[in-house]
Amino acid sequence: MDFKQIIAHCKEYGFIFPSSEIYDGLSATYDYGPNGVELKNNIKSYWWKSMVQMHQHIVGLDAAILMHPKTWKASGHVDAFNDPLVDNKDSKKRYRADVLIEDYMAKIEGKINKDVEKARKKFDDFDEAMFRSTNGRIVERQAKMDAIAKRLADAMRNGDMADLKQQIEDYEIACPVSGSKEWTEVRQFNLMFSTQLGNVAGEEGKLYLRPETAQGIFVNFLNVQKSTRQKLPFGIAQVGKAFRNEIVARQFIFRMREFEQMEMQFFVKPGTEMEWYKYWKETRLNWHKAIGSPESKLRFHDHDNLAHYANAAVDIEFEFPFGFKELEGIHSRTDFDLKAHQDLSGKKMQYFDPEVNENYVPYVVETSIGCDRMFLSQISNALQEETVPDADGKESTRVVMKLHPAIAPVKCAILPLLKNKEELTKTAKEVYDKLKYSFNCQYDEKDAIGRRYRRQDAIGTPYCITIDFDTVENQTVTIRDRDTLQQERVHIDELKSKVFAKTDMSTLF
Ligand code: GAP
Repeated sequence: MDFKQIIAHCKEYGFIFPSSEIYDGLSATYDYGPNGVELKNNIKSYWWKSMVQMHQHIVGLDAAILMHPKTWKASGHVDAFNDPLVDNKDSKKRYRADVLIEDYMAKIEGKINKDVEKARKKFDDFDEAMFRSTNGRIVERQAKMDAIAKRLADAMRNGDMADLKQQIEDYEIACPVSGSKEWTEVRQFNLMFSTQLGNVAGEEGKLYLRPETAQGIFVNFLNVQKSTRQKLPFGIAQVGKAFRNEIVARQFIFRMREFEQMEMQFFVKPGTEMEWYKYWKETRLNWHKAIGSPESKLRFHDHDNLAHYANAAVDIEFEFPFGFKELEGIHSRTDFDLKAHQDLSGKKMQYFDPEVNENYVPYVVETSIGCDRMFLSQISNALQEETVPDADGKESTRVVMKLHPAIAPVKCAILPLLKNKEELTKTAKEVYDKLKYSFNCQYDEKDAIGRRYRRQDAIGTPYCITIDFDTVENQTVTIRDRDTLQQERVHIDELKSKVFAKTDMSTLF
């Protein structure tokens, strides 16, 4: 399914709505509907259980979104959490200078790919690698792209706004809206949203909405360590909202201004951070594979430019409908954050290591994943259109969301065969009442049974349970599997264990 169809499906089936839509929406903010909130909660639960419940030495935290403003001075966000901003003078539209240059590179890449596809059609025994390395026009374009990429990376690393502006001029980049090449200077734009304390006027009362959840963990490091008597290495996990005033916010829930992070800081002895970095890289990749994300859609990408706090960093990228993009980051953050808080607050952020009888500031390996991006990865991977046999033997197409049953919003649908037969609806409601304590179930009696099956397929319900006249006779029902379409007759008393066996999250760990 293409990206537009996925977005439309999310709205039609109650997964995601544009925020405040009746006022034409607010860009880059979205609301999760009834099925969306279930799926999102299941993703969070999968993360929390695999991090906190499965690890004896990882504990949870729920820190406040608002923090003392000095937090963001110490963390470097006040001074360094910037994107390069440029305005077009004619359209008055704002852009990220680096994104304009990246889009320019993507156009060159598009031309290369077009030439490759043309040649593929022309030659029977087409050797793509050979063609790319020998075709004069492609070699020239590739060299141009490499040079642009290097110049962009250098300018970003050095914070060289003048060169970013020069690049936009050198490549003659025009505004996509007005077509004009009249640009303002490129300047740094801080991505933090600010707000004001009610009882303190002016700069002193200026607060920020947290741009990452991690700092709530750092400032609580000793509170958690002492209250839970943890020894190194140990981790603190947190799920919560983060806010970034993104200049370019596009691609649906991929880049939002208000989003949710699932972060874990693992505190280790200095010198052991690389072995833990390797451990978390593998562990996190396996977490993605276990939920059914195909290996071919996952890859590691080492950071070209390390953030101000890191000595090693890698992204787990996922192949979204718009290409491979960052889904999760694993960062070796050294002792940067704890030391910075220690310096600014004047409070010791040290751990006493009884094994060596010494105090020191631990190093940190962080895993950080956006819950919304994880949601998008699951939806875009699961949503499919396929041809299936109909009840009358003909073929028809169905839209089915093949989510892993453990995170599916609804675990089973209870469907009386006919709506106006009280003996069926009464029994169906009894079955629903029996199962609702264990699973999120749906009762549906409206429309023909085939249409009800399709509705459940479209939201990814693993099982449909149909109550018919035999049920009244012998207490058996049919249970239909979403993926195989096989229908099996089972006794009502067996339903709970059957649904549980299919949807139990613990099979993933
Ligand atoms: N504490 C480290 C940190 O925040 P990050 O790479 O800036 O690192 C971590 O963000 C994750 O948060 C990303 O991998 C992504 O999944 C998610 N994320 C970041 N910005 C986002 C945005 N604007 N919208 C949705 N998700 C975002």
